[in-house]
Amino acid sequence: MDIVNPKIEEYMRGLLSRYDEPVLLEMEAEGEQRGFPIIGRLVGVTVELLARSVGARRVFELGSGYGYSAYWFCRAVGPRGEVHCTDGDPENEKKGLDYLGRAGLAEPIRWHVGEAVATLESTDGEFDVIYDDIDKVGYPDAWRAARERIRVGGLYLCDNVLWSGRVTGEELPADERQDWSTQAILEHNRLIAEDERYVSAIIPTRDGVMAALRVS
Ligand SMILES: C[S@@+](CC[C@H](N)C(=O)[O-])C[C@H]1O[C@@H](n2cnc3c(N)ncnc32)[C@H](O)[C@@H]1O
Repeated sequence: MDIVNPKIEEYMRGLLSRYDEPVLLEMEAEGEQRGFPIIGRLVGVTVELLARSVGARRVFELGSGYGYSAYWFCRAVGPRGEVHCTDGDPENEKKGLDYLGRAGLAEPIRWHVGEAVATLESTDGEFDVIYDDIDKVGYPDAWRAARERIRVGGLYLCDNVLWSGRVTGEELPADERQDWSTQAILEHNRLIAEDERYVSAIIPTRDGVMAALRVS
């Protein structure tokens, strides 16, 4: 199920051509060729905007892939900021450091190879933004770990929270109702909506982006 009419997303994407530069285009081409699920430019600009809007200097990413989403967070925090990247696949570290270095965005990067939630737990301090994009079954635990580590006034961001519309539970064959990823996303979204320390909303761009601002 398309969440936003594809022609509308195409129009919105068309407004972002000023970001074209060789390394970004190369990263986007790799995503396209390999079918690797990067957030894409529309969500990339959205997370940069949100991170800048809370004056983010310290960002933690759960599930960095080869650094595409980090590209946008590095732009937001600037060279004196910190963007902690995590991914279980060491090949992604190599690719990410190469891409971000060539894009002139390497300074804020602190790359960790390993399980993302465990790495967050073993990294000290509060964060201005924690961004979650790991395997979907891990979303509830990622939220439980992240919600305590975001400063008041900071943001939790998470991709794919509408899961191609499967969260609605409509038009699913019986076996898909047992889909653990969908169940985990439903639990994750409910836990956030119920947490009174956060004001949250889902931005329905692409596959749905959760934005939760810590207010107390
Ligand atoms: C959807 S991709 C991330 C895309 C990236 N955020 C972007 O938009 O460019 C998910 C990545 O998270 C990694 N991953 C999934 N679950 C993980 C976990 N529990 N710990 C560490 N890495 C994980 C996978 O190896 C994969 O590279």
